[in-house]
Amino acid sequence: MSERTSGLTAGPLLDERADDSAVWLARRAGVPAVWSRYTDLVVERGFGSWIETIDGERYLDYTCGIAVTNTGHAHPRVATAIAEQAAKIIHAQQNILYHKPGLELHERLPRTFPGLAGGATAALFLSNSGAEAIEAAVKLAKYATRRPGIIGFRGGFHGRTHGAMALTSSGIKYRGHYEPLLGGIHFAPYPYVLRNPTGQTDEAALAFSLAGIEEIFATLIYPDDVAAFLVEPILGEGGYVVPPDGFLPALREIADRHGILLVADEVQTPGHGQGDRIGDAPLRDHGFARAPGSIRSRGARRHLRRQRGRVRGCGRHARRLRVGGPRREFPPPG
Ligand SMILES: Cc1ncc(COP(=O)(O)O)c(C=O)c1O
Repeated sequence: MSERTSGLTAGPLLDERADDSAVWLARRAGVPAVWSRYTDLVVERGFGSWIETIDGERYLDYTCGIAVTNTGHAHPRVATAIAEQAAKIIHAQQNILYHKPGLELHERLPRTFPGLAGGATAALFLSNSGAEAIEAAVKLAKYATRRPGIIGFRGGFHGRTHGAMALTSSGIKYRGHYEPLLGGIHFAPYPYVLRNPTGQTDEAALAFSLAGIEEIFATLIYPDDVAAFLVEPILGEGGYVVPPDGFLPALREIADRHGILLVADEVQTPGHGQGDRIGDAPLRDHGFARAPGSIRSRGARRHLRRQRGRVRGCGRHARRLRVGGPRREFPPPG
């Protein structure tokens, strides 16, 4: 089937007119509406906190790649690291090869983790996206515990892949029309002080959430059938909610009491790479003395080794760890 008959290219094919911004703008209409977009800007490049469209308009980019481009767009040292690595080897598939940037990342990244209790060590599983990391964490928890259940929290967002969206309850748009979803998942209330039905205090919200977990154990699934709690240390999509201080330590205690693993989805939490504190206290004071990456059972380690996946951009990540220093800003438009 040719590109034309498949209907995949609704716009004109790339030709000498491609420099004309009208051609690029027309091509937007050919992009399937699978993703919603906050803007219809067609961007030519980014630099520091700025982006520039194909028409030369500059915008201050408050979206920051949805909190991902935290060294700014096209940071010279990051861009150089990518270019240097691309000139050496771009895709050294991790079931097949080791490579220096990947090994460096395995060594350096755990040093940024909050303190691990009892001299525990951390192990990494590198993946391409947050959803993929969640899928891997859930697989790891099930494999390591040989238990089927996962307890998530209302309002949580964990991604758009099939498993991750089954664990998501922040909005119907992520799950609607996709039932039946992955089974064995139950949701407890996230302690949300402002919307707590039994009173707007930390204590009441915490008690309501913990009672919800006990109710799940009493009515839906035995605790020894639960592989993991999956929790955002700060609720992101679900309303940017900071839980009461006692929440994560209480969860840690319940998890330890029942042999349940505690998985922290920190994609939107000021955890790794964005600081290691909630409020004034280090994450370890919130129950994260044992980070999810430090699961130490032999089964878990074996599973980690077997996990398939790809290391991409390790050079970029390793370089990001080193970027530091003052943030480079490009001149504003003028
Ligand atoms: C808390 C949380 N978990 C998981 C994800 C999914 O990450 P990704 O979009 O990289 O798959 C997101 C994305 O915003 C998120 O906020």
